[in-house]
Amino acid sequence: MAAKIIDGKAIAEQVNRETAELAAKLFAERGVKPGIAVVLVGSDPASQVYVNSKDRKAGELGFNSLKIDLPAATSQITLLTEIARLNRDPQVHGILVQSPLPKHISEKEIILAIDPAKDVDCFHPYNVGKMLIGEPDGFLPCTPWGVMMLLERSGINPAGKHAVIIGRSNIVGKPMMAMLVQKAKGADATVTVCHSRTPDIASFTRQADIIVAAIGKANFLTADMIKPGAVVIDVGINRIPDAAAKSGTRLVGDVDYAAVAEKASAITPVPGGVGPMTIAMLMRNTLRACQKANGLPMA
Ligand code: GUN
Repeated sequence: MAAKIIDGKAIAEQVNRETAELAAKLFAERGVKPGIAVVLVGSDPASQVYVNSKDRKAGELGFNSLKIDLPAATSQITLLTEIARLNRDPQVHGILVQSPLPKHISEKEIILAIDPAKDVDCFHPYNVGKMLIGEPDGFLPCTPWGVMMLLERSGINPAGKHAVIIGRSNIVGKPMMAMLVQKAKGADATVTVCHSRTPDIASFTRQADIIVAAIGKANFLTADMIKPGAVVIDVGINRIPDAAAKSGTRLVGDVDYAAVAEKASAITPVPGGVGPMTIAMLMRNTLRACQKANGLPMA
């Protein structure tokens, strides 16, 4: 049986519509607009694309958006000074520093410098800690939160299910583990995390009711690695050569999509699955930061 395709684009549009409505209400009642500052250091083409799409989406939702382009040679102290300025700016509720940063800059120090109340990426240890203990008034990291939202809005309840995550990054794998295992509505899964040092990953994924692939290897998860009826969420974005494509390349996920879709009960495509959700949740975090800054309950 072919899997149900989880349409991340449609679900992200639904989340974004709700965010825009809440932002319009906030503006009507309080005269404030959520504001996001997106900082890019250098000119990495992929990062430029991501930053531009965040900037554009913020505008579409009625947010103030501040795009800050800094040269690759920007010093650590200059970047820290810029962050301190954004921390003080009352019009800026969310700050995102696009990674990767140039090698001479310590990403760790930059993350620590962002006011946790404006850390809409949820990368600051204070917010990571709050997420881990399930504090509802904090932020949630955008990509794993997007995955949780896809499951919820597709009617897939992880409670009591075995979720197997492939990948242990700080951005996806580790927070995904914390969110799925949380004692909470829409979570309550039993979680296994596999990674580059896990022998025989297939022996784990074959036991999974839900698989989240976030390992950064094109077509890693093959049909023989899943059990029939599993739910497969593909977080991977890998560019591979494709002679038939005009650009000579195409985007694929971490899942061998065509074959796995024949065996799974539900699957996210790449593109159009998890990707659009990441930006939608970033915008939701920015709205939440603005609401909190104005003494209002968070959406
Ligand atoms: N680079 C790739 N993904 C992300 C993200 O979610 N946030 C930031 N700040 N940088 C990224």
